[in-house]
Amino acid sequence: MFISFEGIDGSGKTTQAKLLKVNLEKLGFNVILTKEPGGTELGSYIRKILLNVEMDPVSEFLLFASDRKTHVKEVIKPFLSKGFTVISDRFHDSSVAYQGYGRGVPLDFIYYVHNFILEGIIPNITVLVDIDENLSFERIKDADRIERLGIDFLRNVRKGYLKIAKNEDRFFVIDGSKTVEELEEIILNKVLEKLK
Ligand code: TYD
Repeated sequence: MFISFEGIDGSGKTTQAKLLKVNLEKLGFNVILTKEPGGTELGSYIRKILLNVEMDPVSEFLLFASDRKTHVKEVIKPFLSKGFTVISDRFHDSSVAYQGYGRGVPLDFIYYVHNFILEGIIPNITVLVDIDENLSFERIKDADRIERLGIDFLRNVRKGYLKIAKNEDRFFVIDGSKTVEELEEIILNKVLEKLK
């Protein structure tokens, strides 16, 4: 089982990904929690560049894609073959939403590259923690380069996410303004339902 968490910055997805790991482990599952950008050694270098250096949107996408390629090959695929449940804090939908809908990289180019690098690995469930872009903006402290792109950017990213979610069954969209405990329970129930 491969589960990804998505959402705009400040949505609380990282907290929920961690809680889901703990909850599934309590039930006896072997779980690994990983993230993008930066789930591998190469990824941790790429992450530093991405969050600090100004660049055009296509270069940005290609760096996220390099990170993703290594992540799939070195972490996600091997753990799935060992029978682990893999939870990734962000995956390919982040590029469609941020670089595609947010920064204008052509979507067909993004899909084309993903086709090459994902090796058929697509999440079984994608939890989209949806929050209003104004709330996101309020919650962001010490913004990195991408978060500094501003509120109109975040609005486009959010719209992008909601559009992708409409077209694909694997998405589970939840209202990120609920409490941490409420979200935790809703997500766990949904995942267990899917596991049956
Ligand atoms: P993230 O690690 O989720 O942020 P944080 O450091 O706050 O936990 O992601 C870092 C930034 O990278 C975030 O603004 C989203 C962005 N991002 C993209 O633009 N495209 C992508 O494909 C990915 C994976 C992340």
